[in-house]
Amino acid sequence: AKEPVRVLVTGAAGQIGYALVPMIARGVMLGADQPVILHMLDIPPAAEALNGVKMELVDAAFPLLKGVVATTDVVEACTGVNIAVMVGGFPRKEGMERKDVMSKNVSIYKSQASALEQHAAPNCKVLVVANPANTNALILKEFAPSIPAKNITCLTRLDHNRALGQISEKLNVQVSDVKNVIIWGNHSSTQYPDVNHATVKTPSAEKPVRELVKDDAWLNGEFITTVQQRGAAIIKARKLSSALSAASAACDHIRDWVLGTPEGTWVSMGVYSDGLYNAPAGVIYSFPVTCRNGEWTIVQGLVIDEFSRKKLDLTGAELTEEKELAYSCLS
Ligand code: NAI
Repeated sequence: AKEPVRVLVTGAAGQIGYALVPMIARGVMLGADQPVILHMLDIPPAAEALNGVKMELVDAAFPLLKGVVATTDVVEACTGVNIAVMVGGFPRKEGMERKDVMSKNVSIYKSQASALEQHAAPNCKVLVVANPANTNALILKEFAPSIPAKNITCLTRLDHNRALGQISEKLNVQVSDVKNVIIWGNHSSTQYPDVNHATVKTPSAEKPVRELVKDDAWLNGEFITTVQQRGAAIIKARKLSSALSAASAACDHIRDWVLGTPEGTWVSMGVYSDGLYNAPAGVIYSFPVTCRNGEWTIVQGLVIDEFSRKKLDLTGAELTEEKELAYSCLS
């Protein structure tokens, strides 16, 4: 039998946490033959709710779940974890300045970085979900220098999956037959959902999305804004932000990273940029990646047209600006 993998979920008493922990315990993230031990962290005001989640996990009698640690102690939460899904953070409240929100999250991610660095298992893989996701991941990377940069990522898979969903609805095809969309840049409304390399499996052959969707105005306009603003549309409809889709995307992200992407398929991940595709270096930027043997590699050699170039630059500039804002909160 396989040794259990320890998976940390921070902010586990929140909305995404509530959707995510049962998925992990059912094997959605790491496979139906992989036992897990869940580590759940939240802050003291949420301790009672967190304990309620733990009670429900016991009550669900998940065969793969070999243990649950529910705690408000960061060190206890991080000890020995192989995978860390960082969902906890400080949300933007009405009337708050961007800088104040950034400042709260910088201090959270700075201290959680140290705890992970000192107490997580060697080669721990980190996925940051909490917003501002790219910049929280960057702060985590900066303050956990002994964790390799390649082990620290942020979630743009939800945006990626949203783009697949929009194409499948438009063409009335199975979502599983659509692949290789790309989310470039920031997990924010400046992200660029790119379909220029995306394909659809048809009975005869794999065809470019651009060839099947003959409506360029839609692809260059409404498609992009719908994906960029989908989070806001969910909030408007549900009066709460995306949770089940975010949790599902987090599972997809980790599963593909650990178990590998299918041959010929890439996915989007926020990873530390060294300047490929002329993205700014030194920020966490979403790229198309393939994964093998537990490591991601950015897909190279894709042609970027002029329309796309502007959009890659715009979202890159926002990340550089967010980085500066984050650093100004440190001093
Ligand atoms: P939520 O407010 O329901 O839950 C957040 C939880 O984090 C709360 O239980 C809170 O007590 C906890 N928390 C706050 N500070 C903490 C700390 N220092 N350590 C541990 N836990 C802490 O929020 P929800 O809906 O679950 O969303 C979580 C985050 O995910 C938000 O930042 C949201 O903006 C982000 N998000 C990101 C997406 C992405 O695609 N990257 C998609 C959807 C949401």
